[in-house]
Amino acid sequence: MKIDRNAPVGVFDSGVGGLTVAREIMRNLPSEKIVYFGDTARVPYGSKSKETIIRYSRQIIRFLQGQQVKAIVVACNTASAFALEEIRNELDIPILGVIEPGARVAAQETKNKRVGVIGTVGTVGTGIHEDYLRRLDQEITVIGKACPLFVPLVEEGWLHDPVTIEVASRYLRELQEKEIDTLILGCTHYPLLRSVIRQVMGDDVRLVNPAYETALELGRLLKEENLLSAGKEQEEFPYRFYVSDLAEKFKDFANSILPYDVEMTQKIDIERF
Ligand code: DGL
Repeated sequence: MKIDRNAPVGVFDSGVGGLTVAREIMRNLPSEKIVYFGDTARVPYGSKSKETIIRYSRQIIRFLQGQQVKAIVVACNTASAFALEEIRNELDIPILGVIEPGARVAAQETKNKRVGVIGTVGTVGTGIHEDYLRRLDQEITVIGKACPLFVPLVEEGWLHDPVTIEVASRYLRELQEKEIDTLILGCTHYPLLRSVIRQVMGDDVRLVNPAYETALELGRLLKEENLLSAGKEQEEFPYRFYVSDLAEKFKDFANSILPYDVEMTQKIDIERF
């Protein structure tokens, strides 16, 4: 199959979290167009079963393929943990997730070899970050902690609220006691809580946002496959956003965090795919 190098990259998440990855792609690969899908009708993914997340991911990928994307970024740790390996072989375009890039940065950064991972119940339950980290360095100890209330707090826009600080203090206390020096933000929603997490963990713990490394990895992959775009100047909507519910709310949120004025957000019926 001949893939069009000027086609957009598909990026998806359960909601707004994947925008943290889209933002890094916009900054680091400015010639690339993006079709983003946020599954706002079915968020959160983190408390659902593997079978359900695989089914959702397949539907979204079918939708993105209908948009003629040339590559797919699974901008969701839960879907990366549950569905990526299962789905990779079904596709004839490149696909990458967010877990391996994050683990790579953490392995480079840690000095005392004690790494914390926060994520959804689903992601932390798989132990997938630990698998990658231990493959990179056998001496690393990984301490995982699920923070299920973080995603609804982010979707609600409570990024700096006293309630969020209280919740973060309770979740993160355990990690503070374990003397980690590096903490992977293992859910794409969590970088939006970075200042709260920083406040609770203090300045000595390095916070790893896998989004930046994922964007660089995408660039490497596209280059390898000869799929880097020649430019997006002529496009009316170089970044297009689709959701499964509440398009206006999503648009307002996206506009508050992206270095781009989001005009096109459309609701689609994902169950059709
Ligand atoms: N942002 C997603 C992740 O990285 C999913 C959060 C959720 O929907 O529970 O895991």
